[in-house]
Amino acid sequence: MPEVVTTIAELRARIRDARRAAALEGPADAPAGRVVLVPTMGALHNGHLSLASRARDLGGLVVVSIFVNPLQFGPNEDLDRYPRTLDADVEALGDLADLVFAPTAAEMYPRGASSTRVTAGEIGGLYEGASRPGHFDGMLTVVSKLFNIVQPDVAVFGQKDAQQVHLVGRMVEDLNLPVTIAVVDTVREPDGLALSSRNRYLGPDERTAALTLSAALAAGAAAVTGGVEAARAAAVARVEAEPVVKLDYLVIVDPDTFREAASDHTGPALMLIAARVGGTRLIDNERITLP
Ligand code: PAF
Repeated sequence: MPEVVTTIAELRARIRDARRAAALEGPADAPAGRVVLVPTMGALHNGHLSLASRARDLGGLVVVSIFVNPLQFGPNEDLDRYPRTLDADVEALGDLADLVFAPTAAEMYPRGASSTRVTAGEIGGLYEGASRPGHFDGMLTVVSKLFNIVQPDVAVFGQKDAQQVHLVGRMVEDLNLPVTIAVVDTVREPDGLALSSRNRYLGPDERTAALTLSAALAAGAAAVTGGVEAARAAAVARVEAEPVVKLDYLVIVDPDTFREAASDHTGPALMLIAARVGGTRLIDNERITLP
């Protein structure tokens, strides 16, 4: 089971000790000397465990952070009811992590909502960012703090949050942060529902209706031979056939720029969906290739 540390000083001391011990045993670039960070907000499910498992495979010290970051929640979002299940999370991680960093908000933001922010730029205002103003600034701010606190060689993120992955990659590139980003594919239930900590909010009928997101992506992917517009139309039609699901956005983006793909786009693209199922907002995405 991983050791839980709650303060930045304690975490840094543990990481320093681990790096020293690894250096005594071999060259600094050997896997044993590596520090791998898996940033999470807890309420861990198998998707998170697949991130930790990738981290473990990379070798070295695996640090999983568990912190429900108030900065990335809007005033009407689910910050207060976001599930906090630290003991179960630590148990679920088992041997997949060495350290769990579970700070309080006061430890992370001792002066209250921190005055310095990382801004996500134009792409941060699109799609998720349009529906959740300030979300990506808050996310990048805490991720950059975690990178500074842990100083990982590698940080592992899930493809399920595709726009987050893109923006973290851009931050690393734009700010020359010395960390490699590893991305792990979305883990799904057998029926296709992407795992999410928010799935636990769904009632039985909503759980069934939530399958519309992955079904819409599949419908879009099946229509790619008709081009961007046809793929998008097929996916939207699938959502509109399910009255319980309220579509927020369904876009096809160029994975390099994260801007909407032109109607004559060919090659790899990403289809992104966000929708409300009852009171729960869910997202999903799928890689497609336009012929
Ligand atoms: O993906 C998440 O759980 C969060 O956005 C992250 C990366 C842990 C930052 O709070």
